[in-house]
Amino acid sequence: MTPAETTWRPGAGRLLKAAARSMRPGPLRTIPDQVRVGVDLGTAYTVIFVTDEAGTPLAGASTFADVVRDGIVWDFAGAQHVVGELKTAVEERVGRPLTHAAVTIPPAVSGSDHRAHRYVLESVGIECTAVVDEPTAANAVLGITDGAVVDIGGGTTGIAILRDGAVIATDDEPTGGKHLTLVLAGALGLSIEEAEQRKQDPANHTDFLPIVRPTLEKIGSIVTRQITGHEVEKIYLVGGTAAFSGIAPIISAMTGVPAEVPPHPLFVTPLGVAAFDSAAEAAADTWERDAAIRRLASQGGQP
Ligand SMILES: Nc1ncnc2c1ncn2[C@@H]1O[C@H](COP(=O)(O)OP(=O)(O)OP(=O)(O)O)[C@@H](O)[C@H]1O
Ligand SMILES: [Mg+2]
Repeated sequence: MTPAETTWRPGAGRLLKAAARSMRPGPLRTIPDQVRVGVDLGTAYTVIFVTDEAGTPLAGASTFADVVRDGIVWDFAGAQHVVGELKTAVEERVGRPLTHAAVTIPPAVSGSDHRAHRYVLESVGIECTAVVDEPTAANAVLGITDGAVVDIGGGTTGIAILRDGAVIATDDEPTGGKHLTLVLAGALGLSIEEAEQRKQDPANHTDFLPIVRPTLEKIGSIVTRQITGHEVEKIYLVGGTAAFSGIAPIISAMTGVPAEVPPHPLFVTPLGVAAFDSAAEAAADTWERDAAIRRLASQGGQP
């Protein structure tokens, strides 16, 4: 197989279609003893998925909320509320409490910002077992060994470059779907909400493409810069903005590298982050934290 023919792991498309079905409300019939939980705290959507041990989606829920900007939790109480509501909604469907989960961060987020993501989960009673950068989470679904996974979300364009199955570089820049929405709102004289709604309808994409082309080309130039200096034979576009029909040829033309979009690109990262959740690690983390608290208490300090 030549590099240009490489594609995502067989079965990834099926998993993503199952992820879309798992968003439908209603209780589930059977739940395995062990589940994995992923939370993607995004600029536009916060998404939660529960999967079985093998990564098959069981239940998911999402909500559009402005609690994260440029990868930073700027509204902690809002984020807490949103994650708490999604947790409750999914718990009702799976019939048991969600006690642990992995969470996403954009690549290149600093330590203190990444702690905020962890604390959002912990503040609603979810032990945070892993903090994973978005494109790396996405690749848990796609299983790319060589190429670039580019996550174009609401606020940022993040990239992970893979070589022989290892992530060799990550980067993130603040341009994404909300910039497309702003351009559409301005050009068509619409409110932001109306522009957002119309943009998400694929029936409008052909008409809207000339208006948003310069913004998509800007994203293309960001990706070009991000891959400069690396040998990248293929680009895999994920994140909600990758659902804009016509984006792949523009990114290909700008970068000179073929680009592909998997089915339901919005679900790739939130589904993938669940793969990093492990109940065993939650138990170890809790043990370590409790041990630290006991140690501090015995020394007369405050935890
Ligand atoms: N069908 C669609 N067509 C075009 N754009 C879409 C579609 N569905 C969602 N989007 C856009 O995708 C963006 C949300 O994608 P996603 O959920 O991946 O971002 P996020 O994770 O919230 O943000 P970030 O990763 O930047 O923090 C929004 O800007 C939304 O308008
Ligand atoms: Mg995202």
